Amino acid sequence: MSKATFDPTLYNKSNNEPFNQVLDKHLSRRNFVKSGLGLSAMTAFASVGLTACGSDDTPVTKPVDPVTPLPPTKSTAKLNFTSVAGSRLDAVVVPEGYTAQVLAPWGTPLNAKAAPWKSDGSNTADDQANSVGMHHDGMHFFPLNDTGNDGLLCINHEYIDEVALHPAGQTFDPTSGLRTIIDEVRKEINAHGVSVVRIKLVNNQWEVVSNDNHNRRFTGATVMDISGPLAYSSLLETRYSPDGSQARGTLNNCGNGYTPWGTYLTCEENWPGYFANRGTLTAEQNRIGISKTSTRYGWDDLAGHDEERLDEFARFDVTPKGASAQDDYRNEANGHGYIVEIDPFNPTSRAVKRTALGRFRHEGCTFGKLTEGKPVVFYSGHDSQFEYLYKFVSAAAWDAKDADSSNRIQTGDKYMNEGTLYAAKFNANGGGVWLPLTLDSQTTDGKTLGNTFASLAEIILNTAGAADLVGATPMDRPEWCAVDPFTGSIYLTLTNNSKRTETNPANPRLKNHFGHIIRWDESDKDTEFTWDIFVFGSPSDGNAETNLSGLTDLNQFASPDGLAFDQRGILWVQTDNGAKEVAEETNDQMLAIVPSTLVDGQEKQLGVTADNQMELKRFFVGPNDCEVTGFAISPDYTSVFANIQHPGNWPYSSNAAEKTPAGTTLRPRAATVVIRKLDGKEVAV
Ligand code: FEO
Ligand code: CA
Ligand code: CA
Ligand code: CA
Repeated sequence: MSKATFDPTLYNKSNNEPFNQVLDKHLSRRNFVKSGLGLSAMTAFASVGLTACGSDDTPVTKPVDPVTPLPPTKSTAKLNFTSVAGSRLDAVVVPEGYTAQVLAPWGTPLNAKAAPWKSDGSNTADDQANSVGMHHDGMHFFPLNDTGNDGLLCINHEYIDEVALHPAGQTFDPTSGLRTIIDEVRKEINAHGVSVVRIKLVNNQWEVVSNDNHNRRFTGATVMDISGPLAYSSLLETRYSPDGSQARGTLNNCGNGYTPWGTYLTCEENWPGYFANRGTLTAEQNRIGISKTSTRYGWDDLAGHDEERLDEFARFDVTPKGASAQDDYRNEANGHGYIVEIDPFNPTSRAVKRTALGRFRHEGCTFGKLTEGKPVVFYSGHDSQFEYLYKFVSAAAWDAKDADSSNRIQTGDKYMNEGTLYAAKFNANGGGVWLPLTLDSQTTDGKTLGNTFASLAEIILNTAGAADLVGATPMDRPEWCAVDPFTGSIYLTLTNNSKRTETNPANPRLKNHFGHIIRWDESDKDTEFTWDIFVFGSPSDGNAETNLSGLTDLNQFASPDGLAFDQRGILWVQTDNGAKEVAEETNDQMLAIVPSTLVDGQEKQLGVTADNQMELKRFFVGPNDCEVTGFAISPDYTSVFANIQHPGNWPYSSNAAEKTPAGTTLRPRAATVVIRKLDGKEVAV
């Protein structure tokens, strides 16, 4: 909503209101607070001296009507498909008139160095380094021509199914319980990271272009540059990179983003589990969740093995062992937890870790609506229970010419190395404040972050710890953000939080099993925003306090996770559901809605309610046991790409909708699914 519409008398600093009061406010707010006006309208308002809403008692000046003509704030897209029924099949489900194909499943060779994928799991670590990784997640399509039937698909590979990856799962020494086979561990490291895959549409089917020179893999071992406040910091010195300039690998790449200048952003999410400090955890390691005992897959078990190269396994053990940080890997984990920028168009470019955007369990990274001459803003959620939402505001002002830059990594340096990182505080009146994370930022105990941290690099290293001190709002697991191209409103999935025993305004449900989607609009100041809740996940038969958006069998969902707008203003919502009340009715899915068209008589934006819930339509259902995640669309809107992660027993054929015959056991393969209309026209409308 625009802050122009909110009543300052509702302002209440308490974050601990009783559940029912908070909820009542939400339900009544949604009828009036969400303005359809976008950022450009807000800029117009700025000229009439709209005053701050960040303090308790400052009155809000009502703006006069803006005089500048405004661009359209409402999409003209109208969803024109029938919502599909829930499904629990080993196959994907698409609307009538649509088709779905499997593209680039795990193990697809990218070049001639890789042997074809073998159904017995016997491909080697080298094969894996030259083939598509496992557990596809965030994704983006970069077209190479105007029609968009040829391009580069960048795909995140979040983690591995170690049983499916090897012929018979991982091998352990029966006595020590430690990993024993080097090639197995290398294969696991190589199955992580990102794939860049050239794809082409040929006879209405997308194909991977083998041996294309753009095809490449970034793995859990690929050398990457460090940029921003932590570059060359003593906090990043290791035996491998004594000057703190580089880190090896990107791990647990979950959500993604892309930049206005044509690069891919991959986000490091649950990376702390890959490291262990068997000595004393630092405060920062304790805050982020580094283990004291073991690493996620036991990669450090092979430390010191005769065939180990450049401490490739030892580095996952971050216990201080040497005389200084340059003698061991105590700082190895400090090179993880970032947004990583990749230039897919330049096959020889190195990936860069953009530390200025914070270090935490990044789910995604989404840029806000661009305005020439204003900073570029990136949003990123920290996906854990009671963690925070962040935004980064660049120091450099956006120059639209940079969209066509041919030196894309240098452009990334310009916008992503210097700026201000903020954490979000959601207030009970529908207002919110962005709390800067800088040395002079006020903490809730009346001091500054400079009392706790010696440098910006230290703040970044322990971003969540800094956000604790300034009083950010603990959320129900922030996942992906998406920006409405018409209104500029930013949407964020809050996937669930079964541990919530105390509500706050932005997270109003106790034991939030089904999740919700919150949205906000920025004000003309970097530090203020206004927000409301767009939709609550729920089973269709949930009671009145649960099914707050009036969902039915045709759109019930839980645990929203992947989230994306296409440029037509259609919001795509993907699920990663663990709630049985919905899982009994349907596998994970992808729904669509056009939020900017949900407005009241005064053109104020509305959330999803029983009155308009039919506008939220189920477009796609994934196969058994999978999560549906990652969204891309061709520029002509004729192909939607979505990823199937951790399927149980899928795919059966290249026709993604073809059901695996009953009783058939397959080695499951995560894959991209491409959904097209049978007539080849634009999807969804
Ligand atoms: Fe990897 Fe937050 O999902
Ligand atoms: Ca996710
Ligand atoms: Ca998730
Ligand atoms: Ca996942």
